[in-house]
Amino acid sequence: STSSLFAQKVPAPNYDESKIPEFKLPDPFVRVDGTKVSPRKWHEERREEIMEIFGKEMYGIAPPGPKVLESELINQDENALNGKAVREEVDITLANGEPPLKMRMLIYRPKGEKNVPVFLTLNFGGNHSINADPAITLNKNWMRNRSDRGYVDHKATERTRGTAASRWPVEMIVDRGYALATIYYGDIDPDFDDGFQNGVHPHYYAKGQKKPRPDEWGSIAAWAWGLSRGLDYFETTKDIDAERVAVMGHSRLGKTSLWAGANDERFALVISNNSGCGGAALNRRRIGESVTRINTSFPHWFCDNFLKYNHNEDALPVDQHLLVASIAPRPVYIASAVEDTWADPKGEFLSAKYADPVYRALGTDGLGGEAPPEEQPEVDQPLKTGTIGYHVRSGKHDVTDFDWTQYLDFADLHLKNK
Ligand code: GCU
Repeated sequence: STSSLFAQKVPAPNYDESKIPEFKLPDPFVRVDGTKVSPRKWHEERREEIMEIFGKEMYGIAPPGPKVLESELINQDENALNGKAVREEVDITLANGEPPLKMRMLIYRPKGEKNVPVFLTLNFGGNHSINADPAITLNKNWMRNRSDRGYVDHKATERTRGTAASRWPVEMIVDRGYALATIYYGDIDPDFDDGFQNGVHPHYYAKGQKKPRPDEWGSIAAWAWGLSRGLDYFETTKDIDAERVAVMGHSRLGKTSLWAGANDERFALVISNNSGCGGAALNRRRIGESVTRINTSFPHWFCDNFLKYNHNEDALPVDQHLLVASIAPRPVYIASAVEDTWADPKGEFLSAKYADPVYRALGTDGLGGEAPPEEQPEVDQPLKTGTIGYHVRSGKHDVTDFDWTQYLDFADLHLKNK
C-alpha cells in the first residue's frame, strides 16, 4: 500500500535536538559563486539571486497576472457586525476562458472609512467558515474532507458555517481600524495532487503544455499568486489602501504568505503563523517535518526541482532565513506555537534571527534592540518592537486571539500612522 511505501522511503521524524546533524547555513552576504556582497547592494547583488533560487528550485515560478483585472461586487451589507462594518463579497477573475476562473473575496471593513489598511489572508474552509453570518456565500468548490466539521464528500455543507470563527476575530480587527479580506485558497488551486489539471495552472499553460515544468509554480506559488491578484484588486478601490496590505497566513498558508510577501514587494507587511517546513523553519535542521516528508505527503505544493533536496538539504543553495531576509526592509512577523513541534518552533525563530543582519544592513532595527537575542524568547513573550516580530505562544498549532493581538500591535507600529 502507499502507506508502507512512505514508511520505507521517509524515516520517522526526529524530535531530538541532539540528533540534528551539523550544518552550515548559506551566508546572506555571500553569493553562490563565493563573492562577497556589499550590504548596501543586497537587493541587486544578493536578493535577486536568492529569489531566483527559491523560484526555480523550491516554489516554482508563476506567470505574470492578467493585464487588466476584472472584478465584480457580488453582495454587500452596510450594517454588518451590528452596524460597525461593511461586509461585501467580490469576485476577482484570475483567468479568462470558458468558463473564466474566479476567486471570491470576503471583506469586512470599518464603516464610514476610506483607504483603510487591510489584513489579506487565505482560508482553509471557505469564506463562510470564518463567520456564522448566513449571508456569506457557501463555497461549493472542492474542500478537504473533515467530517467532524461538516465537510461531506469534499463539499462544504450549511453545517460548516462559522466553524473556523475562533481563528478569525473579525470584530477585534475592525474595532482596531483594519479591514479583513479573505479568500478560499481552493478557489485558486484545489489542495490535492491531480497533476495540475484543475485550478489556475492549466489556464496558463503554453500551447500543448500538460503540466508545469520542473521550475514552474506548484500550489503554494499559485496561492501566493492569487494573493497578489487580491492586492491588484485593492489598487482598483478607494475603500482599501493598497499600500498598507498585511499578508497573513497560517500553516501551509503561512508558507504561502511568506512566499507571496517575498515575491511581491507591494505587500507592506508579512505575517507567518506556524508556517513550519517550507515556511519559516530552517530546512537544514531536519527536525519535525522534513523536506523529504513534505515532498512525499504534498507533492503538489512545491515545484518538481525541489525533489532534488530529499535527504539532501545541504545541497539547497538557500535556506528559509534567506526567504525572510528577502522581505527586508519591510516588516515581517513570525509566530510559533510551543506544542507545534512538527513545525519546529525553534527553527522558525532561527530564521528570524539569521535574517536579522540583513534587516540591520538595510537600515532597520531587525528584531529590535542593539543585537538580536541569542536565544528563542520565552513562551508568550512577544518581540514586537522591531521590524522583525516573533513570538512563541503556549498551546498548539492554531491561530488564536493572542496571535492576532500581536499582529494588530505590530501593524499599528508599522502601518497605522502612515
Ligand atoms: C500538515 C503539513 C504542514 C502544514 C500543515 C497545515 O501538517 O505537514 O506542512 O503546515 O499540514 O497546513 O495545516
